[in-house]
Amino acid sequence: MALPNGELQKALTRFKDLPTLPDVVARVMQIVSNPLTTAEDLNQVISLDQALTFKVLRLANSAYYGFPKEITHITQAVMILGFNTIRNLALSVSVHKMLFADRDKGLFNYRDFWKHCVAVGVCARILSRRIGYKNEENAFTAGLLHDIGKSLLERMDHAGFMGAIEASQQRQIPLWQAEQELLGVDHAAVGGRLAEIWNLPSDLRGAIELQHRPGEDGVPDPLVAAVHAANQLCRELGLGTDGDFGPTLIDPAVEKLLRLDAAARTEIAAEMDLRLKEAEEFLKFSRGA
Ligand SMILES: [Fe+2]
Repeated sequence: MALPNGELQKALTRFKDLPTLPDVVARVMQIVSNPLTTAEDLNQVISLDQALTFKVLRLANSAYYGFPKEITHITQAVMILGFNTIRNLALSVSVHKMLFADRDKGLFNYRDFWKHCVAVGVCARILSRRIGYKNEENAFTAGLLHDIGKSLLERMDHAGFMGAIEASQQRQIPLWQAEQELLGVDHAAVGGRLAEIWNLPSDLRGAIELQHRPGEDGVPDPLVAAVHAANQLCRELGLGTDGDFGPTLIDPAVEKLLRLDAAARTEIAAEMDLRLKEAEEFLKFSRGA
């Protein structure tokens, strides 16, 4: 399923001018990875960017986190939500701004695409809970970002990417397969490369890169499994669109790990309904709010 390494590297050189992470977010990533960091350190960096501060506080106060008391200050948000959540929020805000802002591109509508990404985030979070994966927030962020490679391909080779979507539609094949055939690289590889350049934590990068081949090394990694299954479940449920017209198959090893029988799927669909409403604030990004 994966391209041979040499070929992939060659194809990736076509996409070498990848966007850089805004300074403030790069600093946030760096600070959070330092064990000596304090909430005040993080506050000092985030506060330099007013728009980011505003959006992080709004998300921290959203129904998704469900805190009864209003959070009015970044330091307070860090203490209540934790470093990783603040890092993920900063990342979500800037990634949306850079790569998902409203653009209607025919077969690929960014608003519906963002809806797909938020739904996959919400679903990955639900699934991670089912398998006792500790960092639920990471699962949400991994789901939210799993398709960043598609935005990159669309922006860097619009005609080629649209051709891949058409091929996926006409031949009912997975989009990644059409991308490999037509562009020599797929969105998982490009997204993984971006995650590497941005120094995203390795588990997030792995979830992006391995989303279509979760069971490759035997037992699937829980985060990869959650993102892989969430992607397919959200496609099955028709939540948003992702330009992929291939079958919605879940890897058997993942199905087993997550115990995804018919009863579980019904349960998950019902919970999705509820949790997507809580994630409304994330969806609002796409309305320019
Ligand atoms: Fe997806």
